[in-house]
Amino acid sequence: MANEENTLDTLLTEDRAFPPPPEFARAALVSDPGIYAAADADPEAFWAGWAGRLHWFKPWDRVLDWQPPFARWFGGGTLNAAYNCLDRHLDGPRRTKRALAWEGEPGDRREYTYEQLHAEVSRAASALKGMGVARGDRVAIYLPMVPEAAVAMLACARIGAAHSVVFGGFSAESLRDRIRDAQAKVLITADGGYRRGGVVALKRAADEALEEEGGCPGIEHVLVVRRHGPDGEVLGGARMKQGRDRWWHDCVAGAEAECPAEEMEAEDLLYILYTSGTTGKPKGIMHTTGGYMTQVLATTQLVFDLKDDDVYWCTADVGWVTGHSYIVYGPLAAGATVVMYEGAPDAPDRGRMWKIVEDYRVTIFYTAPTAIRAFMKWGVDWPAKHDLSSLRLLGTVGEPINPEAWIWYHKHIGHERCPIVDTWWQTETGAIMITPLPGVTETVPGSATRAFPGIRADILTLEGRRIEVGGGFLALRRPWPSMLRGIWGDEERFRETYWSKWAGKTVGEGDDAQPGESVYFPGDGAKRDERGNFWVIGRIDDVLNVAGHRIGTMEVESALVDHPAVAEAAVVGKAHELKGQAVAAFVTLKEGQEPTDALKKELSDHVVRKIGAIARPDDILFAGDLPKTRSGKIMRRLLKDIAEGRALGDTTTLADPGVVARLKGDYESREG
Ligand code: PRX
Repeated sequence: MANEENTLDTLLTEDRAFPPPPEFARAALVSDPGIYAAADADPEAFWAGWAGRLHWFKPWDRVLDWQPPFARWFGGGTLNAAYNCLDRHLDGPRRTKRALAWEGEPGDRREYTYEQLHAEVSRAASALKGMGVARGDRVAIYLPMVPEAAVAMLACARIGAAHSVVFGGFSAESLRDRIRDAQAKVLITADGGYRRGGVVALKRAADEALEEEGGCPGIEHVLVVRRHGPDGEVLGGARMKQGRDRWWHDCVAGAEAECPAEEMEAEDLLYILYTSGTTGKPKGIMHTTGGYMTQVLATTQLVFDLKDDDVYWCTADVGWVTGHSYIVYGPLAAGATVVMYEGAPDAPDRGRMWKIVEDYRVTIFYTAPTAIRAFMKWGVDWPAKHDLSSLRLLGTVGEPINPEAWIWYHKHIGHERCPIVDTWWQTETGAIMITPLPGVTETVPGSATRAFPGIRADILTLEGRRIEVGGGFLALRRPWPSMLRGIWGDEERFRETYWSKWAGKTVGEGDDAQPGESVYFPGDGAKRDERGNFWVIGRIDDVLNVAGHRIGTMEVESALVDHPAVAEAAVVGKAHELKGQAVAAFVTLKEGQEPTDALKKELSDHVVRKIGAIARPDDILFAGDLPKTRSGKIMRRLLKDIAEGRALGDTTTLADPGVVARLKGDYESREG
């Protein structure tokens, strides 16, 4: 933690504060700070107020039933997520409003009004039904950033099937694991997607997932979106398999346009989304319908100050939770115009994002610190070439933002006019949890500021004592509507991962005391300053955050050890100027294996093949031995010190302190 402590000390001296610009505050949906106290006094009433803005087929009986760690929100109520994103808007002027404005990397465009999107989703839903998908089933989605990704998600929701979206950058093997774990019945994929001028051959990877190493026997059909023109040549050698595979354009275009939305229970599963944890196996995070829709709607409107004439662009991929909550469910439930872009930010040049802002007159722009740091590096000339005057609000998510990047974003993109909302949340929370409200909250570069109304966040010690000012473990002390309802198929892991940190202890004191079993631990370390602002430092478990993507150190280690030449592997996160963190791997080889550069390359490719390109190690160091305690535990903390070029921390518990000294020497001589 030594380095993080230093970073934090500099952060805490950050005293630039930006009150909401008066003209922004005057027109904002919320400009009265009283919203915090009101929501705090009666959180259930606050959330019920937001739930009431959704369309319910049947109203709920009870707002919250909380049997830690299990929460039921809006029990007895029935609704449909897709109905709330589409049908609900068809009665008024939103019928002909643009719902989705999409641009492909090559520059092709497609737009859907709410009415058109509704029709497309209904047809896709009918097509899925025609393939035998029924309420309660799971459908895997492995698509590039094309409109069909949103359509497919909503089509599943419409018929009550849960989707499991797998990011298109994951490998065939990762896809296979996720399909199997969720026992999906249908897979929706595409022949390929454009990325930086090239084509990612998704269908080929999908075939590998379905046909090799035992495949996925549960998959009955594959629905394939054609992204590459009529000849189908760019399938990367993949073929349509008779009986199993169907083209989206054949199936969906001809499908029944009427498909009534299933009446779902508030607590029915809406989706599963896999995310990395501290073991080698990703967790299937479960989100349900009523509470999730309530909180994504409330946060989309209040955090982004979303109004009917806004053009909203979130640059995330639908494969991550940000894409689920803030490209699809939140903005569409709010009736927004959503911009969606397929490709890379530097294709064909480094001005692409700003050209899109200019072309679509984007008003709200939500991206990740990693992207902002890349924009910074590319220089101010790129944004300066474009008219960014339509922008009125900026957001960031996914990792801590360094104050310099925040200030750059504020100056060169927001032109010192747009508030910045730094939003802290995670796959498990489903929606934004710590964030400024742009018409109310004074923002401070690097701080996500304070808990969203109705949310109770605190900094705790391991013993459960509340820290008013200072650092410790971030904790969420009250259930919230969009909270995960579990890990698919693994209740024990759900309890252990999130609810055991303070189990058996008392959290808080006096009137504020509560049993530790009802306190959620997100896995992050954080501090709170004198102003009450939160500064999230990052993961304190064995999870890395590489360019805003979550990767488990154990996943990468398992991938390395899977290679026949490797005896042992230890993976740590190394501070990286652009990506926040990079993957650094220390590897010991089996007897007789030569530590060559060629082998290094092979191991790196092996990790990509096993997990996906996001996990490619930046650094692989061959080690004679790894530093271990006397009980045989690898001391990753020391490896991190080495990878980041710091003086070594305490080595007294090591079985052989010489190991780590040698490693440090090797690492430095190699770098030097
Ligand atoms: O460590 C926190 C970091 O990202 C983690 C969640 O990752 P994931 O589930 O992939 O979701 C990312 C998008 C919501 C958190 O545990 N994180 C996310 N947002 C922030 C952040 N760290 C600091 N500041 C943020 N705004």
